[in-house]
Amino acid sequence: MAFYPDTTATALRNRLAKLYDISADEIITANGADNILTLLISAYINAGDEVIYCIPTFPSYRSTTLLMGGVPVEVPLTKSWQFDLDGIFSKITAKTKLIFICNPNNPTGTMVPSDELKIFLEKVPDHVQVVLDEAYIEYRDQEDYLTGIVLHKKSYPVIVVRTFSKFYGLAGLRIGYAVACEDVLEPLLRIREPFAANRIAIEAAVAALDDEAFGRDHLLEVKKGKDYLTKELSRYGFEVVPSQTNFLFVNLKTDAVNVFEQLLSKGIIIRPCAPWGYPEHVRISVGTQAQNEEFTKAFSLIATQCINELMADGGRK
Ligand SMILES: Cc1ncc(COP(=O)(O)O)c(C=O)c1O
Repeated sequence: MAFYPDTTATALRNRLAKLYDISADEIITANGADNILTLLISAYINAGDEVIYCIPTFPSYRSTTLLMGGVPVEVPLTKSWQFDLDGIFSKITAKTKLIFICNPNNPTGTMVPSDELKIFLEKVPDHVQVVLDEAYIEYRDQEDYLTGIVLHKKSYPVIVVRTFSKFYGLAGLRIGYAVACEDVLEPLLRIREPFAANRIAIEAAVAALDDEAFGRDHLLEVKKGKDYLTKELSRYGFEVVPSQTNFLFVNLKTDAVNVFEQLLSKGIIIRPCAPWGYPEHVRISVGTQAQNEEFTKAFSLIATQCINELMADGGRK
């Protein structure tokens, strides 16, 4: 480990290039997808530039835009938590520089249908870059879905952001990447720190791509766990949004922070969605079957309490 990492992460970019049948020059790696997003916004946004995205979504689009003096332009998801691409389109101005589509979306787990996305991309003006944040794309249900990388290969103007933190389980190593045309990535390369990904992360990412059996088993486990948790949560009448990710967005119809705290005291962590403006929603990550069962056991006691409170409240919701 006395040697510095390869600044260009050639081994990983070559492996990804082979996987997607693209040039390594169309790939840039960094210290997690978070770092890629920061590079993108830093490279493209100056004071007063506008960045459009749907809410609720991944918070760093907003925070990094503000940091750069940009203007976040927020369009609510529809009532069924779908993307409002028409709404986004209607907000484009001469000052719009970036549009973020978190696909599938964190925290709702919902996804833009391919056909809608293609129509949208065809009409977005040239001065706007569309970023598809595909941190959870490996968990989608439809195998034939037109991912951002397929769209890029079909010459749609997109910047695709990916990570090894989710499906590949390497969150602690910090490695992510972007795929786009070389000239679109060039401004990011100019501001990226020299050693944006460490040696262990680069080697682990290559090994993770080679381990196809792990990927298959993991997908099956998540799918099974998602079905199991959806069934358990629905049993209590909680609204579970169908998810294309490894987490569920659930309306508990009660103070979700209270439920979070009770579970925390039992060593179980879920994510209350109050910071997104949804005080009764939580995001629950799918674990191993043993973890999912431990969660449902602890949750069943709390859920019964919630239901009793709701009944006492005269079925307020
Ligand atoms: C939608 C989305 N994009 C990007 C990231 C950042 O991922 P990374 O761990 O690679 O920085 C996350 C992490 O939660 C995410 O949910």
